[in-house]
Amino acid sequence: MREHVNKISIIGAGAVGATIAYAAMIRGVAQQYVLYDINRAKVDAEVLDLNHGLQFMPMATLHGSDDISACEGSDVVVITAGAKQQPGQTRMELAGANVAMCRSLVPSLMKVAPDALLLVVTNPVDVITYVVQQLSGLPSRRVFGSGTVLDSSRLRFLVARHLNVAVQNVHAFVAGEHGDSEIPLWSAATVGGLPLLGWSVPGRASLTEEDRARIFDDVRNAAYHIIRGKGATNYAIGMATARILEAVLNDEQRVLPVSSRMEGYLGIQDVCMSVPSIVNRGGVEAVLEQPVNEAEREGLRRSADTIRQTIRTLGF
Ligand code: 2OP
Repeated sequence: MREHVNKISIIGAGAVGATIAYAAMIRGVAQQYVLYDINRAKVDAEVLDLNHGLQFMPMATLHGSDDISACEGSDVVVITAGAKQQPGQTRMELAGANVAMCRSLVPSLMKVAPDALLLVVTNPVDVITYVVQQLSGLPSRRVFGSGTVLDSSRLRFLVARHLNVAVQNVHAFVAGEHGDSEIPLWSAATVGGLPLLGWSVPGRASLTEEDRARIFDDVRNAAYHIIRGKGATNYAIGMATARILEAVLNDEQRVLPVSSRMEGYLGIQDVCMSVPSIVNRGGVEAVLEQPVNEAEREGLRRSADTIRQTIRTLGF
């Protein structure tokens, strides 16, 4: 019997789509990649550039196309296409344009890759994940978004730098919307097994309420800051998405704060948002209820309401 060859298709050859391909290929996540874009010249150029580096990466093939049938047989399809934030614009302001894009993309994707998992990166990612799930008719566990994996990584980086500990030893999640209403789950955060809220280690900085407020502000505004400086964010979202893909294809049962449909999480339902979830080859296997305090619980409910409101205004 021939061994299964993992195939990832990436929809959209913009800065995010191309960087996801780059990061996933360097990590050796799959053996076959397709980069799809309606702009043939752009996709050809990105694929040529990436293929010129194949010698320096684990064995894989990468094929570019403006024909959606190239995605046939994919294990995972990553959706990055759509309008991107302009300086000062919120992610939610992209909802109308990007939902319209999904209305034409998803039915054709379902024809060529009905067995794939769908990983949504296009913003506003929680709204688009909900819409893609509805349009595809797939079970909710098979459609999920990159969500706050990136925001959580930003939070962990800033906490680690403040406390002068390795980022890998900080376990902290940002949950809710990947956007302005997101919430840091400080109550459940730990550093080297110690609760973050009680952090007091001789010779290390403390983490005051003001420090936490400043750090979270930096997390929430990170994308605005980067977009002002270089027009788009791509590296960290590329690496975060590659990490999600790896967790899926290696059936890792890894806990990641991806965006998926809530069905009663802390009483929240009928919306997609990010909470720490177990991710495996089947998609989102389970969501983990965190030991939240009242303010965090309220914040998550408000974030869910914000996302749901946008979903409703778009007729879903
Ligand atoms: C980010 O947070 C813009 O959603 C993108 O980097």
